Amino acid sequence: MMTVQFSARVGRITPPASLRMAERVRQLVAQGRTIIDLTIGEPDLPTPPAILEAASRAMRDGATRYTSSRGIVPLREAIAQSFWRKHQIKLKPEDIVVTPGAKQAIAYALLALLDDGDEVLIPEPCWLSYRDLVLLPGARPVAVPSAFEGGFLPDMAGLEAWVTERTKLLILNNPVNPTGAVWSDKTLEGIAEFCSKHNVVLLQDQIYEDIVFDGRAVHPILPEAGSGFPALVVNGFSKTFSMTGFRIGYIAATGGMMENILKLQEQFATCASSVSQAAAIAAAQMEEEQIRVVQRVYQDRRDAVLRVAKEVGVRVFRAGGTFYNFVDVGAISEDAWEAGERLLMESGVASVPGPAYGQSGAGFIRLSLVQDIPVLEEAIRRIGALGGNAPWNAGAGQPQ
Ligand SMILES: Cc1ncc(COP(=O)(O)O)c(C=O)c1O
Repeated sequence: MMTVQFSARVGRITPPASLRMAERVRQLVAQGRTIIDLTIGEPDLPTPPAILEAASRAMRDGATRYTSSRGIVPLREAIAQSFWRKHQIKLKPEDIVVTPGAKQAIAYALLALLDDGDEVLIPEPCWLSYRDLVLLPGARPVAVPSAFEGGFLPDMAGLEAWVTERTKLLILNNPVNPTGAVWSDKTLEGIAEFCSKHNVVLLQDQIYEDIVFDGRAVHPILPEAGSGFPALVVNGFSKTFSMTGFRIGYIAATGGMMENILKLQEQFATCASSVSQAAAIAAAQMEEEQIRVVQRVYQDRRDAVLRVAKEVGVRVFRAGGTFYNFVDVGAISEDAWEAGERLLMESGVASVPGPAYGQSGAGFIRLSLVQDIPVLEEAIRRIGALGGNAPWNAGAGQPQ
């Protein structure tokens, strides 16, 4: 049989660890095991009925054809209004391109901006896909480490240490998957200065911006066109509105930056799904009410996890947002991959090992809080039974 020589490009990328773990869970369940599955970054809350109804209506009304490559104008207007309502940032519809999911928006931005050998600063632990999507166009991901003690965010000196003349871009996820860390407004001011000083493009992934706790709010930085430094914002409807299967996201920037992004969308996808765009308009109309729902549900779950973790002596990083918790499993094994495996096989709790998110995740696992509180409490008790009450776990769950 002839062997196919695949490109060096595709050889650089690997399948996401969270999907690999989810597949293992499926296999174990098929063998009759009962597993608490906390692997996947997908909300368990139902998609709100008004969104489903808008999608059905769009199909019945004939919205079944290609749309403008940028996305339909009413949706881009709704996104611009949301930017104004939440962030007091003024955008025009032409500053926005609607994409098939935020992931594709990030891929466009990286393909449009990076050449061979360019370096991209990525604070770690971080979402698995950034590294692979940076490798695709031949650029080099540069991990900027952080630690539990520093709130799982690097400080400015940490960032400065990794800049070279090849540094082209910084990827900032706020709040952060997998730790739930939130960048403070003050640090973001420092980052803005850093980007203008080093002429670094800022790519902000705001996919979890609505899921923040304790009354906090997070805002992206988008300098006026022609001032400051180039910045882009990516967001989407997957997480806040439980619309992962609709595949609908967007990318925004001022000053004509969308034209090169658009070229990629025109060749890769033509446009985002017409039906999903109609559904997203309905989502945007109920945004304020839905944000209140997700903030309450996921904050209650985080609080339940912290409470039980404290009881059983397991150290959990106090997430300021997202629906993830980063849990110290050093008492189960020094190797978090092994700890994750033991938790799966001996305790029936499926997680994603922290090192999948970069070396800074060593010693931790990520739990996705996509089950009801009693199930999450049970998962933490089982983690405690396997490796709780370790000396370094004293003070578990204390706010930082
Ligand atoms: C940090 C981060 N960015 C982007 C995405 C992609 O979201 P979408 O479903 O819109 O492609 C995810 C999904 O897990 C994510 O965790």
